Amino acid sequence: MANKKTFFLAALLALTSCDSGNIVEDVAENDEKGRAVKLSVKVSGMADLNEKYTLALAAFKSDDNYALTVYTIPATTEDNAPVSIVVPSLSSEVSTVELAIIDRLRQRVVSLESIDMSDYAKTTDTIRIDAGTVNVGMLDILQQHVFNVACIQCHGAGGGSGAAGLNLTEGQALQNLQDAASSRKEGRFRVVSGSASQSLLHQILAEGGEDILHYNHTEVLSSHFKNDVTAVRTFIDDWINGLKK
Ligand code: HEC
Repeated sequence: MANKKTFFLAALLALTSCDSGNIVEDVAENDEKGRAVKLSVKVSGMADLNEKYTLALAAFKSDDNYALTVYTIPATTEDNAPVSIVVPSLSSEVSTVELAIIDRLRQRVVSLESIDMSDYAKTTDTIRIDAGTVNVGMLDILQQHVFNVACIQCHGAGGGSGAAGLNLTEGQALQNLQDAASSRKEGRFRVVSGSASQSLLHQILAEGGEDILHYNHTEVLSSHFKNDVTAVRTFIDDWINGLKK
């Protein structure tokens, strides 16, 4: 196991240090042990991803939000450097292979790209995932995978300033949140830089926060993120705690 890991890491480092964009083909034979997957991606914003998190190609069993196998993309990856990862053989237990942000326990926070292995049941060729360019700074992840999917329909996407005067669309969210006074709770702030626990954003999304506002935001988050909701909450808290006034 340790040997395998070292091998993949070495292969990965070798690949990422080459900035020609060429991808090494057929790193491993695709034998009867399982199907091979190859990911190509350009990453930016790695320096703004909190060190508790990793961008990885991760294999998951169905209904399990802890990854079975993880191939880490190094935190030192420079902006726009092409990265290529080859997983030579996936076990048949794997149901999805995802480019995901995971935490230190290998728990999924959000999935940036996902393939369902059952769609490839008859494939014997290497399965290729081209994830294009992904931006993994904390705020970019939040914008694209939380605000854009679960919030902006009420907070700004329809034009105007959004519910409670809070606009969470791209380019607006930060100034609308960071150290901005609540329009609903006198004397409180939507986000207090460096302190998740004092931030209204944290409070309304946390368990027990259902009745703080006239709209149940805890439910918004859990209905979108299901099993991943705890990890998503923690990710939001880590973003807030990392903000400087
Ligand atoms: C279905 C509509 C809807 C969705 C979806 C929604 N909100 Fe809201 N939000 C509201 C409403 C309505 C209020 C004002 C509630 C009140 O007046 O008590 C509000 C208020 C807020 C406030 C308090 C603003 C202030 O100034 O006090 C925050 C923070 C907030 N929402 C964040 C979010 C986030 C983050 C998401 C996505 C995870 C989200 N909302 C999704 C409708 C929504």
